[in-house]
Amino acid sequence: MKSTTLFKEMKELNEPIAMMTAYDFPGAKLAETSGMDLLLVGDSVGMVALGYDSTVPVTIEDMILHTKAVRRGARDTFIVTDMPFLTYHGSFSETLAGAKRLIQEGGAHALKLEGGGFIFDSIERLTHSGVPVMAHLGLTPQSVGVLGGYKIQGKSVEEAKKLMDDAKAAEKAGAFALVLECVPQQLAKHITDELSIPTIGIGAGSHTDGQVLVYHDLIGYGVHRVPKFVKQYVKVSDIIGEGLLSYVNDVKNRTFPGEAHAFNMKNDTMTELYG
Ligand code: KIV
Ligand code: NA
Repeated sequence: MKSTTLFKEMKELNEPIAMMTAYDFPGAKLAETSGMDLLLVGDSVGMVALGYDSTVPVTIEDMILHTKAVRRGARDTFIVTDMPFLTYHGSFSETLAGAKRLIQEGGAHALKLEGGGFIFDSIERLTHSGVPVMAHLGLTPQSVGVLGGYKIQGKSVEEAKKLMDDAKAAEKAGAFALVLECVPQQLAKHITDELSIPTIGIGAGSHTDGQVLVYHDLIGYGVHRVPKFVKQYVKVSDIIGEGLLSYVNDVKNRTFPGEAHAFNMKNDTMTELYG
């Protein structure tokens, strides 16, 4: 059984945690091979792989399907799965039912919940039930309708104070790690210093204990505009685009398939059959 203690140890040893999102078998396999410390089956799947314009339409079924694929691709990697929109905001028995499915059917090792307030109760109760929980503060994309867009959080004194308090509350509730999304780097550093659980930043500067990026953003796959905080390491869309264009051209010119791609019968079989 995979355990979360490794990540706390990494923080203590000041060893950075490398995390990315994964949604399917090949991506998970590549991530594991590259030495990723943990994978997030993010509800960002809704935007980058399913074409929704937010994470709001993503369902438990979607998350189970993608978690299963990631598990098959990365058998030796710790996998965190997002609980999707409004699946942990009603009764705790509903939250527990969803959590159970994501873990038992999907194969997640841990779950991620966005936000503060009453969410901390769920973090505490899930943790006491044996479910490791990753908290997520700052920009919480499931609340885009309330936040009024994808904007930096925690810039004002009040906001920064609230974020610091929430971070402490997440740790107290038993979260094993905390994602900080789109917060000023100075605040992210302060939170990281104050907490004993690791912080994983996205758009939070270099002082967090780990970093997470969305797979499609970091490899430049099907994304046209990436946020300022993303570093695009490659542009696979260009390579894929070139390949697809060549294929279409080859088919239209009848240069594909060539002799090398075709099967042959024995010399006399056709004669024997049809004269
Ligand atoms: O869904 C996601 O990709 C995330 C990360 C940005 C942390 O929640
Ligand atoms: Na998410």
